[in-house]
Amino acid sequence: MLGVKTAGPFYCSGAAQAKLGHEEGELSIARGCGRENIIQMISSAASYPLGDIIDAALKGQKQWFQLYVTENRQASFDTIKYCEEKGIGAIFVTVDTPQLGRREKDLRIRFATDDDEEEEEEEFMSSSELGEKDPIYYKDASLTWKDIDDFKQSTKLPIVLKGVQRVEDVLIAIEHGVDAVVLSNHGGRQLDYSRAPVEVLSELMPVLKEKQLDNKIEVYIDGGIRRGTDVLKALCLGAKGVGLGRPFLYANSAYGEKGVVRAIQLLKEELICDMKLLGANKISDLTPDLLDTKSLHIKQAHRDLLYDNAYDPLTPPRFKDEPLN
Ligand SMILES: Cc1cc2nc3c(=O)[nH]c(=O)nc-3n(C[C@H](O)[C@H](O)[C@H](O)COP(=O)(O)O)c2cc1C
Repeated sequence: MLGVKTAGPFYCSGAAQAKLGHEEGELSIARGCGRENIIQMISSAASYPLGDIIDAALKGQKQWFQLYVTENRQASFDTIKYCEEKGIGAIFVTVDTPQLGRREKDLRIRFATDDDEEEEEEEFMSSSELGEKDPIYYKDASLTWKDIDDFKQSTKLPIVLKGVQRVEDVLIAIEHGVDAVVLSNHGGRQLDYSRAPVEVLSELMPVLKEKQLDNKIEVYIDGGIRRGTDVLKALCLGAKGVGLGRPFLYANSAYGEKGVVRAIQLLKEELICDMKLLGANKISDLTPDLLDTKSLHIKQAHRDLLYDNAYDPLTPPRFKDEPLN
């Protein structure tokens, strides 16, 4: 992937504030990925300084950097330069977060530290207020293709757009010499009703093939990848690799480095088993004809058992003078 050999066609996608789940945060994710030779993408909003996460990597381990562009463009160029010097393998510019989406749970249930005196007042901020106030979420909505050209010119590192959601935008990305795109809707956490990346992938690859552009750009997807078969579906449709966000956070939050290693091993085991069952000996044997894609075109509402069973429902907000239970 992006010129680097790894032990599997999947990577750990960048996610903010891993320390909220485990004390060692991105450091244990780095070590777990290193032990299994899987690429870690480091978030711009990581809980440890970038240098510490790079230092936590094993010798020769590859990491990518996810860049949130803020109004201070010079800071972006400085970070890209720093990444280049420190041996980071690619820059993933996130393009689906000009502002924070309307995350209703985040709006209602804000975490607070012991010395957070203004907790009560923060409880009912709008998403844009939340975005402006919180440095983790502060992004710049004026990012344009010109910025992408400038980033590209400033570095030898591959520049990747993370959060592309339309075939048309991939075609423009190719015109701008972008090295790869990640079809992603940010794990369904930004715009309501945004399409599943796997659907966009199934539309994109035939168009790229027809225009003979399929060798001009690498295509990745993320979002909802949980099992070996999910990875294989994406590869059959033409993705070079896939990213996983939450699975790595869950594994790390519960078990730290060990959990990350185990999550990767499970995926590897499943991939090998599933490929044998498919009769595929190598990645290039994974082709679209192995899939039945008819259901992609029939929109059926499925009951979301994972959501219903695993997530707490939104509780109604508390009245100002209502006592806490
Ligand atoms: C808690 C959390 C934090 C995230 N933080 C970032 C981030 O800082 N930058 C970014 O580009 N994407 C971020 N993402 C999105 C992931 O990189 C990825 O696109 C998404 O999680 C993939 O979906 P999945 O969780 O279903 O695998 C975050 C996702 C989650 C769940």
